Amino acid sequence: MESKCFRNSKDGEQPWRVLEFYSGIGGMRYSLINAAVNAVVLEAFDINDVANDVYEHNFGHRPHQGNIQTLSAADIDGYKADAWLLSPPCQPYTRQGLQKGSKDARASSFLKILELIPDTTRPPLFLFVENVVGFETSDTHEMMMEILRKNQFVTQEFILSPLQFGIPYSRPRYYCLAKRKPLTFRSAQHDNQLLWSPGPLLWQDENTIDKDDDQSQEYWDGLLQHCQPIENFLEWKGSANGCDSKSSFLADNDSEKVDKDDGDIGHNSDFSSQYLVPSSLVKRWGNAMDIVFPHSKRCCCFTKSYYRYVKGTGSLLATKQGTEKCKSSLEELCLRYFTPREVANLHSFPASFQFPQHVSLRQRYALLGNSLSVGVVAPLLQYLFTEPP
Ligand SMILES: C[S@@+](CC[C@H](N)C(=O)[O-])C[C@H]1O[C@@H](n2cnc3c(N)ncnc32)[C@H](O)[C@@H]1O
Repeated sequence: MESKCFRNSKDGEQPWRVLEFYSGIGGMRYSLINAAVNAVVLEAFDINDVANDVYEHNFGHRPHQGNIQTLSAADIDGYKADAWLLSPPCQPYTRQGLQKGSKDARASSFLKILELIPDTTRPPLFLFVENVVGFETSDTHEMMMEILRKNQFVTQEFILSPLQFGIPYSRPRYYCLAKRKPLTFRSAQHDNQLLWSPGPLLWQDENTIDKDDDQSQEYWDGLLQHCQPIENFLEWKGSANGCDSKSSFLADNDSEKVDKDDGDIGHNSDFSSQYLVPSSLVKRWGNAMDIVFPHSKRCCCFTKSYYRYVKGTGSLLATKQGTEKCKSSLEELCLRYFTPREVANLHSFPASFQFPQHVSLRQRYALLGNSLSVGVVAPLLQYLFTEPP
C-alpha cells in the first residue's frame, strides 16, 4: 500500500496518542503495530483479569482493570489522547442473543464513554469501533452516529471479512471509522457511507467499489480463488493420532456440549488427542458440523464457545481425506479442533503472541473468539490515520 505522500503521524513526527477500550488480548494493539502507524498506546482498559494477564504477558503492560462505565471526562482528559479504539461487547447485537441493543446492560458502558466526548476538554480526533454485523441496524448504532454528528465527526463505515484480504477465514464484522473535522478521509467521496468492500483501503477507484451488499456468489467465488489454503495457517499438519473409537480421549457423551478437561495443553504426547473430536459427537452432530480440509480456502468464524459446543462455533479440520457425505465417512475424516495457535494465525496475530501457561484451553478459545482479525483491522487503521496532504 503506497502512503508516502500521506501523513500518518502527528505533525509528521510526534506519535498519535491512543486509548484502547475493551482491550481483551490486544487485537487492536497488534493491528496498530501492523498498520505501521506512528502511534503510542497510552492505556488499555478491560474488566476481565484473565484477558489482562494475556495482554500483560505479550505487551509488558497491565491494562487498567475496571468498568469503563466508571471513567469520567476528567480521567480521559488526563491522557491527552488523540484516538480512541473501541471493541465493545457484541452480545447485545448478535443474532443468537436477544438483540436488546442499548437496553442490554452490556451496551451501557459504550454509550456512556461516547457521551463523555462533549465533556472532555480534548475530544479525540479519531475514533474506531469494531462490532458484529447487526450492530449497524441497532439503536446503539443510531445513538453512536448521533453523538458523532453532534461532535463534528465525519464517518465511513465498513462490513468486511478476512476473506476479502486473502485469508481463508469468514468473519464478517462491522467497523466505524470517524475523524473530527477539519480532518478528512483520503477517499472523502465515501463519507457517511457503509461499504462492503475494502476498495478505499486498497486505493481502488470509485467504479470498482461495492457500496451496498453486492455480495453475489460470483463475488465470493472470485475472492476464494485468491485466498491462501488453510494449511498455511496450521501448526500441526499430520493426521490425528489415535483416531479410533478406543481412544481414551473419546468421552461417552453425545450431548452437543463438549465436556473435556481444561488442563495443561503443552505440546506433549497428548497433543493430538487433546484436539480430536470424539466419535460420539461426530455421530450425533456430524450433520451440523462445518468441516474443512487443509486445502480448503475458507473456514467459519471461531466464536468464544468453540471447543465447548460444536454447532455454529467454528470449523473442524479433517485430517484424513474422505467424501464428507455420510456419517460413517465423517468418522473416517478423523476430525480435530483447530488449536488456539491456529485460531490466532487465522486472526493474523503475530507468531510472538503467546498465552501465559495458566490460561486454560477453554479460556484461550473464549478470549480468541472475542478478539478480532488483525488482517482486517490493520488496513482499516492505516486508512483512518492517513491524512490527505
Ligand atoms: C469484544 S471483546 C474485545 C476484545 C479485544 N478487541 C481483543 O482483541 O481481544 C470485549 C471486551 O470488553 C471487556 N468488557 C466488557 N464490558 C466491559 C466494561 N464495562 N468495562 C471494561 N471492560 C469491559 C470484556 O472483558 C472483553 O475483553
